Amino acid sequence: MRATLHSSQWLSRDVREVILSPHKSLNYRPGQYISIARTGREPRCYSMARAPSSDNRIALHVRRWPGGSFSDVMMNESRIGDEFDITGPLGAFAFPEGAGPVVMLATGTGIAPFLAMLESVLAGNAMRPITLYWGMRNEDDFYARHVVGDWTAQFQHFRFVPVLSELGSGYVQDLAAREIGDPANTHVLACGNARMTDDAFARFVTGTEIPVASFASDAFVPAKDGSDAAETGPDSEAKSAVRLFINGQCLHAPAGETLLRTLKVAAIPVMSVCGGKASCGTCLVELDADWSERVPPCSRTERNLLSCLPDTGPLSRLSCQIRVTQDLDGLAVRLSSYNPTTKEFSV
Ligand SMILES: Cc1cc2nc3c(=O)[nH]c(=O)nc-3n(C[C@H](O)[C@H](O)[C@H](O)COP(=O)(O)OP(=O)(O)OC[C@H]3O[C@@H](n4cnc5c(N)ncnc54)[C@H](O)[C@@H]3O)c2cc1C
Ligand code: FES
Repeated sequence: MRATLHSSQWLSRDVREVILSPHKSLNYRPGQYISIARTGREPRCYSMARAPSSDNRIALHVRRWPGGSFSDVMMNESRIGDEFDITGPLGAFAFPEGAGPVVMLATGTGIAPFLAMLESVLAGNAMRPITLYWGMRNEDDFYARHVVGDWTAQFQHFRFVPVLSELGSGYVQDLAAREIGDPANTHVLACGNARMTDDAFARFVTGTEIPVASFASDAFVPAKDGSDAAETGPDSEAKSAVRLFINGQCLHAPAGETLLRTLKVAAIPVMSVCGGKASCGTCLVELDADWSERVPPCSRTERNLLSCLPDTGPLSRLSCQIRVTQDLDGLAVRLSSYNPTTKEFSV
């Protein structure tokens, strides 16, 4: 749907709050995100930073990345009243059901979905203990400190722990791991950079007694990953192990990566708005009919998303969910919007 830029303001030296008025009602749960694009440009994902409101406006906290095709351009060029294309709500990140303690781990603008959750949960009657760990480089970066400070004063069951990596207090997940008393009874939510969310998963779930269901995360994986370019080059042919046929064009690729990443490394401009988390559907491919039984079947998450997307059929798959192994030598897929002759990709 379309959304109009209602207002925007700097929250810190590199984070801007952007308020949008979607043209139709956007019924989201705190924790979810949207994808947003200027007309004809690549979309990016941003989490809603406030609980749903009766005026149907949504707030996003956008960190500026120098040269960023959305963040930098939006901050330099957008004016009040500009229109954007938005898709959503997306994602399954949400405040967990139950009564046990909840630990929130955030880095940077990863605080956004937690602010939305806290705004809605703290106003309720539940006295569930909630601790928010928020990691930043320096003191000035804690842009929502006054809001969080008010909640700390108002709600005894809410605790806020700012974590300054500059002061050597370690990372949010390290500090939380040291402080959590009985992790078996605790829900852990992590949001922000992927290194933190992956590390938190390793700490709180892998090799512990904690069920995976007690952990949830949303990683702000960049849509444009600088490392892709570095890995694209003549070397990739030398390491070839698997042949892939993309719209009939043969590509030699090393085994081990997801199909999405393999396509990106080969400079095929496939989209990946959610960064490979099976929640946006932009990395869609169609399997050749001969391959429908040979590619490992969909997970439940992939199946759920595919069932919601328009124009999908039994051969549709998410390229971010297929791992390229030796067994897939000769795999043939189509990207409906990719033209291998002109190397153009239409969104
Ligand atoms: C589910 C989800 C929710 C998100 N929510 C938010 C949010 O609420 N607030 C927010 O600010 N961002 C959020 N992001 C990240 C956001 O979608 C964009 O990736 C980010 O704003 C950069 O986009 P851009 O177009 O400005 O930069 P791009 O044009 O994509 O990149 C420009 C340059 O910056 C570098 N870069 C961009 N992001 C990173 C990064 N994370 N780490 C290292 N280098 C990077 C790139 O390598 C590139 O060189 C979310 C991402 C996901 C997947
Ligand atoms: S990249 Fe979003 S579903 Fe695959």
